[in-house]
Amino acid sequence: MKNKKITVLDFKKKKVSGEKITMLTAYDCPMARVIDDAGIDAVLVGDSLGMVVLGYDSTTKVTMDEMIHHAKAVRNGISRAFLIGDMPFMSYQASDEDAVRNAGRFVQESGCEAVKIEGGKDITARIKAIIGAGIPVLGHVGLQPQSVNKTGGYRVQGKDALSSGDLIKDAVELEKAGCFAVVLECVPKELAKKITARLTIPTIGIGAGMFCDGQVLVTHDILGYFSDHTPKFIKKYANIAPLIKNAVESFKQETVSGVFPDDERSY
Ligand code: KIV
Repeated sequence: MKNKKITVLDFKKKKVSGEKITMLTAYDCPMARVIDDAGIDAVLVGDSLGMVVLGYDSTTKVTMDEMIHHAKAVRNGISRAFLIGDMPFMSYQASDEDAVRNAGRFVQESGCEAVKIEGGKDITARIKAIIGAGIPVLGHVGLQPQSVNKTGGYRVQGKDALSSGDLIKDAVELEKAGCFAVVLECVPKELAKKITARLTIPTIGIGAGMFCDGQVLVTHDILGYFSDHTPKFIKKYANIAPLIKNAVESFKQETVSGVFPDDERSY
């Protein structure tokens, strides 16, 4: 059933059936189209946009307007996958009103079907307010890149008894608040296993091991766009950067030498 439209109900169905959920990020239309054609369940317009595409040094610089702009493009490439917009830093932290208004923008202006929010028990009021407006919410606990200034960097979360207990409580509160699924980022696999067994909603892991109900990765990471250090949990399924560089160098060399354009490519 590769062409059946994925809805929020499919997340629960897959949790029950044990079929793994697949999710990738996209920030533009052509990439979204390829991902959709490949049969991926859900596309996340992540605030990783800032670091992956816009060249920022942190996701905290990404604005709501930038997210909307890219989510619109992604929408145009998707007909089957479930589309989720990632609420950027300061789009929901200040008030329930901000949270509902900005989640509403994702739906109304970009055609997203759900939003993702970072945070645990402290953020459940926001989540309930957004769901109350009719917008499904994907929770996100463990490493929360928007809070790295508070937590002191990008590191594995929930490694000791106290913090792992807190993480379990956070995930349970997100389920109680009505999230349809929860992202677990950079947590030990045994902790992710415990949380996955405890929740009736699916867990989507990123750096959280093999026991989660699904996996999400940044598409540019799995394509091998970046040659600098990549975290241990990333698997590169392609090495696209040298291919692009070769093509660009060939274009340059053929243009400079007069090989391109030839007769065949001229009117
Ligand atoms: O911004 C993002 O891309 C994300 C994930 C990959 C979970 O939050």
